[in-house]
Order: sequence, then structure tokens, then C-alpha cells
Amino acid sequence: MIETKGLRKSYPSGRRGQTVVDAVRGIDLDVRAGEIFGFLGPNGAGKTTTLRMLATLIRPDGGEALIAGADLLADPAEVRRRIGYVAQGGGTTDVVTAREELVLQARMYGTGKAEAQQRTEDALKAFDLTEFADRPCSTYSGGQRRRVDIALGVIHAPQVLFLDEPTVGLDPASRGQVWAEIKRLRTEGMTVVVTTHYLEEADALCDRVAIVDHGQVVAEGTSEALKREISGDVVLLGIAAGESGPAADALRDQPYLDRLELQGEDGLRLYLQDGAAAIPQLLRVLDGAGVVPRTVQLQRPSLDDVFLARTGRSIDQS
Ligand SMILES: Nc1ncnc2c1ncn2[C@@H]1O[C@H](COP(=O)(O)OP(=O)(O)O)[C@@H](O)[C@H]1O
Ligand SMILES: [Mg+2]
Repeated sequence: MIETKGLRKSYPSGRRGQTVVDAVRGIDLDVRAGEIFGFLGPNGAGKTTTLRMLATLIRPDGGEALIAGADLLADPAEVRRRIGYVAQGGGTTDVVTAREELVLQARMYGTGKAEAQQRTEDALKAFDLTEFADRPCSTYSGGQRRRVDIALGVIHAPQVLFLDEPTVGLDPASRGQVWAEIKRLRTEGMTVVVTTHYLEEADALCDRVAIVDHGQVVAEGTSEALKREISGDVVLLGIAAGESGPAADALRDQPYLDRLELQGEDGLRLYLQDGAAAIPQLLRVLDGAGVVPRTVQLQRPSLDDVFLARTGRSIDQS
């Protein structure tokens, strides 16, 4: 549904625009029809820039893309007809009601008046907006407003929907509702591309994920496959202050250990295949070295571990 090759974008930067920021440095994507595709990365990774390029809002400096069969550079107008785009923060106006926004948006796509009203009626029902459809948007909760934003993005029945950080700032319940709406769109056959810096969102919502950092894709695949690549589990050991060095020395050569990292003075992060089976052994070795563990935590790999393995940083520290 979406295929990009080497998409690039730089911005002038510095006080007089004398330097450049390479916001997107050659991105190849392959998004399949009917999937929810996640674009996961820390702030500044280039997610919005990529999405805005794909949505024809800014022109790439280089590279190419085919979106729903239309060529991004040669035929942006056709791309625009086939996609919907919801900006970070959305596009609703305080004083306007959801019903008015929806009719207006449908009319903007050239829909006749009666048809626009019908589509609005359908959208209000589908997105469960009827109850407050005739109140100004300023009176909506964050979650209600986000649902209006998404309804606006699909009023012209696009094949692909781009959502930029659709759940930022929402409470967990509202976030769950937005996820449910996105999944419903998938059951209707729509392809959805979502950017996010929330690991749980990429994990729980997306069929496949591209992890981006500094304008490049550092990993791509299903959440499960990406985590499997990290191979195995992580055991977090909490020990007394100053003991992480001795503990690391004791454990370093254990055959079942793939890798080990110090976590400050009082902790170790151990990468191994089967954490549950290794824990008793680990404890014996530490005991032999006179190190008493205070806490032992077994973690299945997370997408943050994938990010860490590829970039050396945690996504939340970026
Ligand atoms: N209009 C702009 N002018 C200059 N730099 C920009 C502009 N938009 C984004 N950037 C820079 O490009 C990089 C990527 O930004 P962005 O695409 O917004 O990332 P994300 O959405 O992942 O947070 C950042 O370093 C950001 O500061
Ligand atoms: Mg952004």
C-alpha cells in the first residue's frame, strides 16, 4: 500500500539558517494493505517529517514513494485523494461543533450537500459522537476530540490514514478508546500508519513497527519478531551499593549469559536465553562470590530493549 525508497528531508537550521538538520536520512518503508503500521521513535526522530512528506504536505529532498498506487512526487494530487491525515494535536476548531466540522470536511472533498450530511451522520454513529455532536469542540474531553479528529481524517473514505501521535496526552481509558477506533478502521479494510513514542502503543496496537532514530529506520518487523531478535530474556539484579563490579566479575563467564551491563553501582542487567531457568544458577554464583542480591526481576524483552540494542539508548531517555 505504501512503498518508499530513500526518502530524505533536511531543514535549514541555526540562527541564519547556515546549517542544516537532516531530519529524515533515507527511509525505506513497505506498508501492507489493511495493516496498522507503527512508526516508533523518540522525539526528534523524524516521524512527523516523514508523515508530512507521505501526506504531500512537504516535498522530499530525495527518494521516492508510491502510496495507494499513486506516485508521491509525480502525482501528489492523486495521493491526496487517496489518503487521510490527522496532524499531531488534530485540526478541530474550538467554536465549531463536530457535526459542522464533519460536513465542512466532506464538502471540502467535493461531496454534495446531501451526501456530506449523510456521511456525517454515519461518522457520528460509527465514532460514537452523536451525544455531543452539536456542542462546540472546546467542550469535549481530550479523547472525544481525538475521535472527532480521526472521523475527520476518514470522512472521504481514504485507502490510507496517517495519524501523527494520536494518543499523546490522553488518559489510559481514552487511549484505549482511540485504539479501538483504529482497530475498527482496520476491520473495514483501511491501512493505518501511526506515529508514536509510546512503546506500549506500538506493541499493543500495531501489526508491524518501524523503529526510527535520527531520521533512519533502525529496525522493522512485527513487535514479536523484533523482540525475538533481541534473543531471550533480561534479568535485572538489584544488589547493595558498590557491589555491581564484583557481581559482574563473578557472572561474566557464565556460559548461559549472552551479555551483561552494569546499571549504576547497585544493579546489573543480564541478557540470556532462558531467564527463569538461569536464575537459581545466577544466585548460586553470586552467593559463592559473597554478593547478596536484594531484588531479582525477570523481564521478557520489550521494544525498548530492541531500541537499546540498536541505538545504545533507552527510548525514554532520548
Ligand atoms: N520546520 C523545521 N525547521 C527546522 N527543523 C525542523 C523542522 N521540523 C522539524 N525539524 C527538526 O527535524 C528533526 C525531526 O523532527 P520531527 O520530524 O518533528 O521529529 P518527531 O516527529 O519524530 O519528533 C528534529 O531535529 C526537529 O528539530
Ligand atoms: Mg512529531
